Amino acid sequence: MAWKGVILAGGLGTRLFPVTRAVSKQLLPVYDKPMIFYPLTTLMLAGISDILVISTPQDQSQFRRLLGDGSQWGLRLSFVAQPDPGGIAQALLIAGDFIARQNVALVLGDNFFFGHGLPDLLARATARADGATIFAYQVRDPSRYGVVTIDGDGRPTAIVEKPAAPQSGWAVTGLYFYDREVLAHAAQLRPSPRGELEITDLNLRYLGAGCLHVERMGRGFAWLDTGTFDSLIDASTFVQTLEHRQGTKIGCPEEIAYRKGLISRSTLLELARQMGGSGYGAYLADLANGKE
Ligand code: TTP
Repeated sequence: MAWKGVILAGGLGTRLFPVTRAVSKQLLPVYDKPMIFYPLTTLMLAGISDILVISTPQDQSQFRRLLGDGSQWGLRLSFVAQPDPGGIAQALLIAGDFIARQNVALVLGDNFFFGHGLPDLLARATARADGATIFAYQVRDPSRYGVVTIDGDGRPTAIVEKPAAPQSGWAVTGLYFYDREVLAHAAQLRPSPRGELEITDLNLRYLGAGCLHVERMGRGFAWLDTGTFDSLIDASTFVQTLEHRQGTKIGCPEEIAYRKGLISRSTLLELARQMGGSGYGAYLADLANGKE
């Protein structure tokens, strides 16, 4: 089953004003690479290579400049603009022509996932041809998120958006896998009181149809969103700590493309050369030369 991927990199990023007045949030650095590399590599780890990037109209040229058509990483990237931030589910409608009648994974451009076993968890989602899969992560402050309650058999029973009195500590993360019915469901959505087509409403439709699956990301995983100044620093520090300690990189598209056999060693060496004298380029060169 071939999956398509959508990265949602629009939005106003108002919580990061004035920084995001002139630069898209998803282009800001999380330690040593642009934020969008992290959700992009999450999709790559799920085995998805045909990916649409949704951004604001004014930011689109910068995303194109950064990511190109993806062929350098063995991917097929395309770009489309979301004129106004009308909600996460609206993005699926904007991506309608791209998705057509295929299964699609949607990831928010400011979400960061890391953990041993992540590829296996993603594989469980892509193995399901029917229904939808969401991922739940235990947080200290669930009221800020969509909160899912899960029964003893691991099945979701309810999702409530930003509840004042959360019934569980499990937040719904910004990574969603949908079957080919997704556009039909999305077309039925109506704007919420805040005027957005809500992803929670879409997930509730799948829940109501009895075909919503939830995968729990346990404490061995990190899920961070990077929409505030503090969370941006937290994510950068997290990446810095692991990368310094291990000498490996998190969220490096070149490395994942190479390890998955999407690009050759000579392509990797060329990509390393294009990185100039940066540590990032040296890392790619070491990888091509077999230095672990
Ligand atoms: P949010 O963090 O909800 O919104 P935002 O990025 O505009 O930030 P702020 O709340 O500070 O104003 O968005 C989550 C992700 O989804 C983020 O990566 C931006 C993206 N997004 C869109 O691309 N289009 C949209 O209509 C919305 C609501 C979000």
